[in-house]
Amino acid sequence: MSNLLEVQNLKKYFETPRGLLHAVDDVSFGIPKGKTLGVVGESGCGKSTLGRVILHLLDSTSGSISFEGEDVTNPGKTKLSELRRKMQIIFQDPYASLNPRMTVTQTIREPLKQTGGLSSGQIYDKVDAVMETVGLASRFAESYPHELDGGRRQRIGIARALAMEPNFIVCDEPVSALDVSIQAQILNLMLDLQQERELTYIFITHDLSVVKYISDDIMVMYLGKMVEKCSSKGLFAEPLHPYTKALLSAVPVPDIHHKKKRVLMTGELTSPINPKPGCRFAARCPHAKELCLKESPVLEEISPGHVVSCHLVREMNH
Ligand SMILES: Nc1ncnc2c1ncn2[C@@H]1O[C@H](COP(=O)(O)OP(=O)(O)OP(=O)(O)O)[C@@H](O)[C@H]1O
Ligand code: SF4
Ligand SMILES: [Mg+2]
Repeated sequence: MSNLLEVQNLKKYFETPRGLLHAVDDVSFGIPKGKTLGVVGESGCGKSTLGRVILHLLDSTSGSISFEGEDVTNPGKTKLSELRRKMQIIFQDPYASLNPRMTVTQTIREPLKQTGGLSSGQIYDKVDAVMETVGLASRFAESYPHELDGGRRQRIGIARALAMEPNFIVCDEPVSALDVSIQAQILNLMLDLQQERELTYIFITHDLSVVKYISDDIMVMYLGKMVEKCSSKGLFAEPLHPYTKALLSAVPVPDIHHKKKRVLMTGELTSPINPKPGCRFAARCPHAKELCLKESPVLEEISPGHVVSCHLVREMNH
């Protein structure tokens, strides 16, 4: 199966008064068409920046991005507007990303009007159809965001993205701000849409139960680095990187007979600004040794599709 999106050695550094901040540092992956890559990691590890660089909302520092088999690292104006339609984003907090003075239909209509090419009748029909697709009853057509609950607001965000008929969507914590009871409805809607329209997703979250539910593959990030990537099943069955293990062990286990040893993370978070050589997780890693402080571990494929960057894992597999 060919990959819809392919990212090679992608970097995004921000210049800050204190030095270069390595927000995304040499990340490579591919996502097959119609599949979901979950991206997990603590706050500040670079998840949103990665999504924004892929969407060309931010320029990359280096590396390459290809989409539908074409290099789109530096797209020209025409290509960029095509990408702006095909690649969409759904945000965590629909309240913050929706204009409070626009009704539901105005919100969904706005990007369609800007793209041009559609008559007002066609736009009207499209808004109608897309509202139905996401389960927004027509009685909400003239409602304002503050009049709706969180779940319905997120449905507006999804409808707005969907109206552009994208084939790729970056979902940046789309259910994190919602009540747990509503989260499942929105996740199921997104899964249904994916099936119907063969959508490809990057799904960003720090909720591991959500990512397990929705992802085909999962990538774990730590301070801008991809530290592990595997099929969702494989990652939960056999996490290898010490950071992934710590993350997974912190998830409450519903089965009370299943006593899992909890790995506590201690030590301070290393700064992403002018990071020192060596493994970025070393300050918190229970297995850190001299080599870890000197040399950055490189990604290595431990088994088909399962890549890890850790000196210890590497040694154990040789
Ligand atoms: N425009 C910017 N200028 C400078 N630094 C930035 C900028 N945007 C993000 N950063 C920094 O880049 C790093 C990654 O931020 P990012 O928002 O991508 O993290 P995240 O994983 O999405 O976090 P969260 O889970 O809190 O949303 C952080 O250290 C952040 O402070
Ligand atoms: S490279 Fe060393 S410090 Fe980093 S995660 Fe592996 S064992 Fe821990
Ligand atoms: Mg973020």
